[in-house]
Amino acid sequence: MKNIRLSKRKILIFFCSIAILSIFTNQYILAQDDERIKRGKEAYKKHCSVCHGKTGSGDGPGSEISGVPPRDLTDKAYMSLLTDDDIFKIILYGEEVFPYLQMPGRDSEIEESISWDIVYYLRTITVDKGPIKTPSPQERAERFKEPLERGKIYYIRYCSPCHGISGDGKGFAARGLVSKPSALNDPVLMSKLTEQDIFAHVKGLKKKGDRKMPIFGRTITKDMVNAIAIYVKTLSTTPDSP
Ligand code: HEC
Ligand code: HEC
Repeated sequence: MKNIRLSKRKILIFFCSIAILSIFTNQYILAQDDERIKRGKEAYKKHCSVCHGKTGSGDGPGSEISGVPPRDLTDKAYMSLLTDDDIFKIILYGEEVFPYLQMPGRDSEIEESISWDIVYYLRTITVDKGPIKTPSPQERAERFKEPLERGKIYYIRYCSPCHGISGDGKGFAARGLVSKPSALNDPVLMSKLTEQDIFAHVKGLKKKGDRKMPIFGRTITKDMVNAIAIYVKTLSTTPDSP
């Protein structure tokens, strides 16, 4: 009898300690979560807010650098289309892994573990803003297979800093240049240039001396330049692009 009573007490103690222990573990996990979110938030401020804004809604001071508006990272509907792994890779590798994006990766400045902290933090800042208003990442990946769409993305990335988004020759990097970038949206100039001419100019195939523009060489492949040339030809007919 005595023995059984004792073991009942033991069992009680056993369960009580489990309960107490699990409260502590929970607290511990919660505290760790808080730590992660805090680290993620700090890293976000340091590496992302310049473009994506303090709150993540895409209105940081650097938002015009890339020629396309930074994504609103608080938009729940859009962000739910990206897996944690996608976001992790976007942070570290950007357009290298998702070529339809206009955002360079940051793997030279951000450690992998910090990148995960940022992913963790981003998951806490989304709010319901209704259905998505822009093409989904999956649609964008699909569209990227079209040369014209690829050409537009490459044009914005490689050419618009000098030639301007609309092709008017007044990109932000053109301000300091002595020889002004040509207006690639000028119908008169463009009627004289074929896609092959544009290709030749970018690849530096014309004779040296008659150009001030950098030769892109191997940074951009033949396929890329072909796509760009196709897109450039549309600038003089559609003055206001993206
Ligand atoms: C130099 C400006 C700039 C910085 C810095 C920057 N981004 Fe971006 N980001 C952009 C732009 C521009 C886009 C939109 C690209 C597009 O739609 O093609 C974007 C898009 C994104 C997207 C959405 C991708 C998609 O599939 O639509 C995520 C997620 C993102 N950024 C996260 C981050 C995080 C996290 C950081 C910090 C580690 C960061 N970005 C730093 C400019 C920036
Ligand atoms: C660093 C600034 C800069 C960048 C980047 C740049 N260009 Fe240019 N581009 C110029 C300047 C300056 C000229 C005028 C002088 C010359 O012809 O070299 C020019 C001229 C041209 C011309 C010749 C038009 C004519 O008058 O015959 C074409 C075509 C052209 N650029 C296409 C492109 C394309 C396509 C890209 C992107 C792959 C690009 N450029 C990137 C500065 C730039």
